Amino acid sequence: MDKSFFIETYGCQMNVSDSELISGLLSTDGYRETKDINNAGIILVNTCAIREHAEDKVNSRLGFYKQIKEKNPTTIIGVLGCMAQNLKENILESKPYVDIVLGPDSYRNLLDMIKARNNKASQIIDTNLSRYEVYENISPVRDGGVNAWISIMRGCDKFCTFCVVPFTRGRERSRSIESIVEEAEKAVKDGFSEITLLGQNVNSYNHDQRRFVELLAEVAQIPYLKRIRYTSPHPQDMTQEVLDVMLKYDNICNYIHLPLQAGNNNVLNRMNRTYKKEDFLTLVGQIRRTLPNVGLSTDIIVGFPGENEKEFQETLDVMELVKFDSAYTFKYSARPGTKASEFDDHVKEDEKQSRLERVIATQRKHTMFHNKNYVGKIEMVLVEKESKRSTQEWAGRTDSNKWVIFDKSNVNIGDIIPVRIDEIKGITLHGEIINIQEMEAA
Ligand code: SAH
Ligand code: SF4
Ligand code: F3S
Repeated sequence: MDKSFFIETYGCQMNVSDSELISGLLSTDGYRETKDINNAGIILVNTCAIREHAEDKVNSRLGFYKQIKEKNPTTIIGVLGCMAQNLKENILESKPYVDIVLGPDSYRNLLDMIKARNNKASQIIDTNLSRYEVYENISPVRDGGVNAWISIMRGCDKFCTFCVVPFTRGRERSRSIESIVEEAEKAVKDGFSEITLLGQNVNSYNHDQRRFVELLAEVAQIPYLKRIRYTSPHPQDMTQEVLDVMLKYDNICNYIHLPLQAGNNNVLNRMNRTYKKEDFLTLVGQIRRTLPNVGLSTDIIVGFPGENEKEFQETLDVMELVKFDSAYTFKYSARPGTKASEFDDHVKEDEKQSRLERVIATQRKHTMFHNKNYVGKIEMVLVEKESKRSTQEWAGRTDSNKWVIFDKSNVNIGDIIPVRIDEIKGITLHGEIINIQEMEAA
């Protein structure tokens, strides 16, 4: 049989990290990854169900795989990840070209399933969710770059009423500190400069009563690990101890992604976000007092069911008060099976669109506000990749998670180097590498 596989990934970094695990799993049995989808023995797609738009993208890709299979009938097509649950019903009937459907906790079965399907088994579906699976002892095959994603926990127990994740990924469970540290040490040996600890609620991490703060401190002490990031924390579980550890260790980046979602207490309550606007603002104050110049980003949903114009204005008000460095902004998308999808009072599409545009404009203003303060400063930048615009330029990030573009000179990807920020183009910082003497003089 043809042991080449093509894998593509939609959705969040958890999925990126899961796809690396899947590649690792397949490579233990002689499968090899190909970038040529048209000639792959196996086509895998790791899917996302967070918004309708995410599902639409995958559905259109499935149409394309169908065409490939018409040309190469032996191709095995596997649908993995968060859409597996919802797809399982209609796949047997309406998508006979799909061979395998596997939910996020069933990847260990993939090898057996490919074999079975090659032996003409009927379509195979496994969407069982596990209370325990954390994929310990599988080595991911990472796709290069300077950052290694390390999943520290899976699932989510928060049940925000808009969110499908607790249903697609099941109950929250954490990996042991030992296995996380071991994986991080290996990533450092393999040449990664940065690691990002990943989970839906990283700060509710709990393995045998050992908490996130302890994990973070242990990871920070790994020799030669230049940078550590984590995402996403939940505002409810943020503690002063975590902020203190961030302050204490230089290699933990001065950046926090803190999802607000909405600025009005009624909306937050109906979202089941478990904090009030005032709590969020107090937390931001606490963060900024402990970590001066911290980079703060957020997630915002507009047009949650029942959100009226006055309530929406409070999201803008909170944005004005906090002035995030950046924001991921979304129109509410009803997800079957979630509580909010059954609320009446859904906001009209054109109203959602208008709110989204206002949130984006407000955020742009705040991003500019912060970025302007960087001009003239010297920032330590991790060289990450070539800039999209020119082969003569590198792109890298500051500790506070801002992208900076600068001319290539005698530095390598993975180095951390001082860059003087000279100007802003669009919303991106541009600068110039300086040498250590210049830095000391400044
Ligand atoms: N665990 C993270 C979020 C994961 S999903 C947290 O709690 O912050 C990433 C973002 O997608 C969410 O923060 C939310 O802003 C957005 N999102 C989730 N469900 C959504 C929905 N049904 N419609 C629109 N946006 C949604
Ligand atoms: Fe979804 Fe809320 Fe869990 Fe985040 S915390 S994954 S938004 S249910
Ligand atoms: Fe999407 Fe699943 Fe991530 S729904 S956002 S891929 S956890």
